[in-house]
Amino acid sequence: MPDYMYLLESRLSPEQRALLLRVQELARAQESNIYLTGGAVRDLLCGMPLRDLDFTVEGNPGRMVRELEKGGARIVVDDERLRHYELIFAGDVDGSISAARDEFYARPGAKPEMRWSTVMEDLRRRDFSINAVAISLNPNSRGLLLDPTNGLADLERREVRALSIHAFTNQPIRLMRALRFCARMDFKMEQRTQEWFDLAIERGLQETIEQHAVGQEVMDAAREENPAAVLKQFEEHDFLAAIHPKLQRRRPDYDGLVRLARAKEEFAAVGLKVRPVTGTLYYMLRKLEPRMASVMKNLDIPNAAIASVQHLPGEARKLLQLLRGSKTKGAREAYEVISHTPNELLVFMNAEFRNPRAASKIRNYLQKWRPLRLNLPVTELSNLGVPRGPKFDKVIEQLFDAQLRGKGRTPEDVTKLLKQFAGIKDEPKKSAKDEKKKRGKEKDSDAAKHKHIVKQSVENEGVHAVAAEGSAKTGVSAKSATLPARKHAPRTVARKRTKPSAKAKRRVRR
Ligand code: CTP
Repeated sequence: MPDYMYLLESRLSPEQRALLLRVQELARAQESNIYLTGGAVRDLLCGMPLRDLDFTVEGNPGRMVRELEKGGARIVVDDERLRHYELIFAGDVDGSISAARDEFYARPGAKPEMRWSTVMEDLRRRDFSINAVAISLNPNSRGLLLDPTNGLADLERREVRALSIHAFTNQPIRLMRALRFCARMDFKMEQRTQEWFDLAIERGLQETIEQHAVGQEVMDAAREENPAAVLKQFEEHDFLAAIHPKLQRRRPDYDGLVRLARAKEEFAAVGLKVRPVTGTLYYMLRKLEPRMASVMKNLDIPNAAIASVQHLPGEARKLLQLLRGSKTKGAREAYEVISHTPNELLVFMNAEFRNPRAASKIRNYLQKWRPLRLNLPVTELSNLGVPRGPKFDKVIEQLFDAQLRGKGRTPEDVTKLLKQFAGIKDEPKKSAKDEKKKRGKEKDSDAAKHKHIVKQSVENEGVHAVAAEGSAKTGVSAKSATLPARKHAPRTVARKRTKPSAKAKRRVRR
């Protein structure tokens, strides 16, 4: 059996991994079973990036949600009736926690009755087999894949298969979901699912989709990696009319969406993942102007999202003026503006205006300035003995400034600049001439020491005549002239105790 836990952990970001550990801890403490379910497991199995982490708990997840809130999670949707909580967890991880539930339809298309259930029942009530998958996070079965409807086989066949003949009748929004999954994953519908889909269209079920459900689908499409592909699927099946009757004829601004995708690529190339949801909504619906905002309102799109879409073109124009103007002529000024602007707005401005001057500043930011900023030599400055604090920060900023001006690009130059800004002086270098002089002086003083010591020793021994003779020839005592030069006083001093040589004694006697 493949080790899904290993696979999962290796694909999660550090923040997602921390969340995974935390929910397991909480579930164990509260003695509930918890599972990672739906999209995250599907994406894991087919090698796609994991976006949201959705957890299903057998029991009430309320207490767990409160604990997670204490750790910094924010609740975005709180549906007490369904015990379903959408959250932005600590570390900005998107996801949800829900109670496992089953749904019963008195007749196809009626409002479902709901009851709390096991995870297996919860998986079976879902829309498509590829979504009806889970991984156990519980101590006794950790890493076990739950796949009661054989979704793994459909992932391999690259097919979207509905789990019931009533899948679309019960929830017509699943028609749009099926199209979205096909577009996203480049899958086709399984044959029987296609028949159920066609039958539903024949019966006009698409016209019965509730507006808030369409609004949710519009938001989901805007969050897609390739929203244009999804919208084209909608257009092909006349589903743009479900968003607004005029959109099917006027069509989304596909050119704008292509430019947006290109602008996003430039960021992705340096490892910055941007999801320009607001810009996508704008290009999706701009042809409905001046009714764009009211259309979104009818679809129950959150007010904050509507306001963002409305303000987007104005904000982008202001940014453009700033990046085109003299206020951002210098690299430092341009860096400050760009680094404080949300990436989504930068991407949209590039897509909307395609201004070469503004675009080249953004390119410089991505390819040169930001890497410099990320690699500032803080360790090197610490190693130079500068303690952390305001002065440290000032030196680093000065260095960054210099680098933006094209200086300090080699390690040697960086060290030089850091020392200069921190006021660290190098010890003055001694010239070769000075060194020679110093060595000469040392020699002289050694010789003088020898002379003095030997003279004393000879005097002590009463050999004045020998000493006088030696000094006349060499300037050094006769004794030291015959002995190898002694550099170190202690050894010379030791010699003081040696007896006068026989030759010296003979001379004295003469
Ligand atoms: N679901 C369903 N019927 C719907 C909507 C959702 O059965 N009308 C189920 C699906 O099984 C899905 C789960 O609820 O896996 C969670 O829904 P959602 O978050 O919308 O989908 P994800 O599978 O997480 O996909 P995405 O990658 O788009 O987030």
